[in-house]
Amino acid sequence: MAIQKVGVVGCGLMGHGIVQVAAQGGCQVVVLEAEQKFLDSGLARIDKSLTKLAEKAAEKAVKEGKANEADAKAKATADAAATRARIRGTTSQQDLADCDLVIEAIVENLDVKKKLFKELGAICKASTIFASNTSSFPIGEMATASGRPARFVGLHFFNPVQLMKLVEVVRTDSTDAQVFEDAKAFGAACGKAPVACKDTPGFVVNRLLVPYMTEAMRMLERGDATAQDIDTAMKLGCGYPMGPIELTDYVGLDTTLFIVEGWTKRYPDEPAFTVPAVLREKVKLGKLGRKTGEGFYKWEGDKRA
Ligand code: 3HC
Repeated sequence: MAIQKVGVVGCGLMGHGIVQVAAQGGCQVVVLEAEQKFLDSGLARIDKSLTKLAEKAAEKAVKEGKANEADAKAKATADAAATRARIRGTTSQQDLADCDLVIEAIVENLDVKKKLFKELGAICKASTIFASNTSSFPIGEMATASGRPARFVGLHFFNPVQLMKLVEVVRTDSTDAQVFEDAKAFGAACGKAPVACKDTPGFVVNRLLVPYMTEAMRMLERGDATAQDIDTAMKLGCGYPMGPIELTDYVGLDTTLFIVEGWTKRYPDEPAFTVPAVLREKVKLGKLGRKTGEGFYKWEGDKRA
């Protein structure tokens, strides 16, 4: 694979997962954060996830009769340690200079992302491919800011990155064909199924998913059904793992609001892109979903209370 050394900017909710799956895929990974405390908390999440996945891998190997319990545990633990050893944290942008690929997973703020890519464009070797994990901003604008639009793609992972099997690989009109193929190969090495998409609002998933979530909130506002009944309906009626209201809590109400507000400004004539009042109100109250312990539901850690 052309991509051997990967830089990830941001070790938060999405960034830590991207770091982990890239390392699981055999890449050397350098993760950049603004402060050591953010690195520490992101790396601790990776340790927790690797431990969990190792437990599951050992259980599976025993169940399938591939190894006895002690050998299965020893192998899974060694694999997790080898993955972890491929990950290094840094607070210095300069450490990304020789990466083959740098993926941005920072705050959803286009100006901040453009500034970052401009800086990276000046630091990284000429062959470095740049990628953004943005959920909703145009890839083309960041590609222009980077000064190397031919070597720029979107790599949109899904939450939780360790478990969700998809990555959207987004190309602009300027993306070089080989760069696009290298980005798809990287996604596959991370254990994901890459789907190709043009640089359109929300790409494939969020263009369909976010209007579905906001429509569910409007049902709630009208009193058509309760949150529980909307979620049960979509889980049992369509076989989805979570209903739309629970999923909004899971993704984060602030993130959802941010995406829709951005689209409303950019595409004011698109009826699917409007903000439900209940979403705005809850964000104002700091009820952001799973991350704050309350959104439409109450949460205890990663689970609904
Ligand atoms: N690493 C390792 N293990 C993890 C993990 C992680 N990050 N997160 C959860 N797990 C483990 C849990 O500990 C649990 O282990 P156990 O079986 O031993 O208890 C196991 O995975 C299953 O998790 P849960 O018990 O919580 O329950 P589920 O079976 O419901 O799985 C889920 C959780 C995979 C999140 C599932 O509910 C799901 O697929 N939900 C929908 C998620 C979704 O749609 N994501 C996309 C959001 S949109 C997006 O990301 C785009 C953005 O741009 C907005």
